[in-house]
Amino acid sequence: MIRRIKGTYDILPEESEKWQKIEDVMHKVARIFNFKEIRTPIFEASELFHRSVGETSDIVKKETYDFQDRGNRSNTLRPEGTAPIVRAVIENKLYADPSQPQKLYYFGPMFRYERPQKGRQRQFHQFGAEVIGSNSPLVDVEIINFAITYLNALDIKDVIVKVNSLGDKQSKETYLNVLRDYLKPNVDKLCEDCQRRYIENPMRVLDCKIDQKNPVVLSAPKPLDYLSDSAKYHFDHVISGLKALELDFEIDKNLVRGLDYYTHTVFEVLSKSDQLGSQSTIVGGGRYNDLISELGGPDTPAVGFAFGAERLLLALEDSPLFKTEIEIHAYFINLDNMFENDALKIINDLRLGGLMIDYDFLNRSLKAQFKQADRLKAKYYLIYGQKEAEEQIINVKDSDTGKQVSVPINDLYDYLVQQFQSNNCEGCSSR
Ligand code: HAM
Repeated sequence: MIRRIKGTYDILPEESEKWQKIEDVMHKVARIFNFKEIRTPIFEASELFHRSVGETSDIVKKETYDFQDRGNRSNTLRPEGTAPIVRAVIENKLYADPSQPQKLYYFGPMFRYERPQKGRQRQFHQFGAEVIGSNSPLVDVEIINFAITYLNALDIKDVIVKVNSLGDKQSKETYLNVLRDYLKPNVDKLCEDCQRRYIENPMRVLDCKIDQKNPVVLSAPKPLDYLSDSAKYHFDHVISGLKALELDFEIDKNLVRGLDYYTHTVFEVLSKSDQLGSQSTIVGGGRYNDLISELGGPDTPAVGFAFGAERLLLALEDSPLFKTEIEIHAYFINLDNMFENDALKIINDLRLGGLMIDYDFLNRSLKAQFKQADRLKAKYYLIYGQKEAEEQIINVKDSDTGKQVSVPINDLYDYLVQQFQSNNCEGCSSR
């Protein structure tokens, strides 16, 4: 038997309904914040990620899926969505669109060759949003508020929002020199990975999981203490905006994020749910004011976030959001195959009116048809045979109460809709 590739999984029908739900809520929240969806290819020229996510980042060093195509070009399955969006913005000149800033969102699979565990896959999905073309701190607030509003819409409350600033290019350079000088005499006290990071990407020492309690890391200088005046002004405005919205957050001076392109604000939201274990970050993001110019576009500031959809679903385990009382409105019970063309027509008319109807395709016995209807959690059985055909009626039986009434076929649709409305049936009106 051929098996799925390690770190990937199948989303089976029961699970996919949950995906549709979180995607529905995503589209709704995006609409109220006036973000527009963008879809880009799942593979790009490898160079895009090397130049954006960063040669020294773990993602590019160890985790990308790279392949040569038949024309000997090096391609990479996208490990994240920001770089492809930036590429698309530059290539399609969205920065010159009269409507600015561009507020974009996306949803789709991403690929990282990581060690699979709960909440960490090799193919996973991100819902991301990017605002391109404004340096206003209000946009940082907008993006963080968008993420929190989405979590609230899903009723995920048990979270910690962490915010920090890395400063602009100049502040980052000043800080990195200070940090390198500080770490130099202590390198041998760092974990193996951090000894490498010290040379390549010293800021990442601050959020190392292994060295979390290492006194060298605890007393290391922090980027927030080396902000230039303008970077400090920017961050202060972000903080006052978050406070004005009465959002709960904390400043985490050690938050640096794992991708190289960040400047100014960075943030993460962590879930406190036990389901997530060590992979508790459900959304991460920040500002990346230099990335667009570094990739060949005009100097254009930007900020964004990305949620991990699998982690959201773990945080939503047992959520009432996914509980539906019924799966379909009615199941058609065919008493006599002679009348199957009548059945097709009746069922089709109900479906075109928006009702969810299913029927038997396996020539089941009467008893087995009722059983299948119950399996599908049908609210009504629609019972039809020779007698009903002659009288142009259909017997409608309520699967909960057992009550049965005869309804003229012409009135069937109105009758069912009225029943669902008067019973205030959960989920019926939205279908
Ligand atoms: P990131 O922190 O690398 O940021 O990923 C964002 C989120 O994707 C993580 O918080 C996590 O929920 C999820 N995630 C990452 N890797 C995996 C994995 N292997 N399995 C399951 N979930 C995963 C970015 O990707 C940036 N592009 C975010 C951003 C957008 N910054 C600015 N704009």
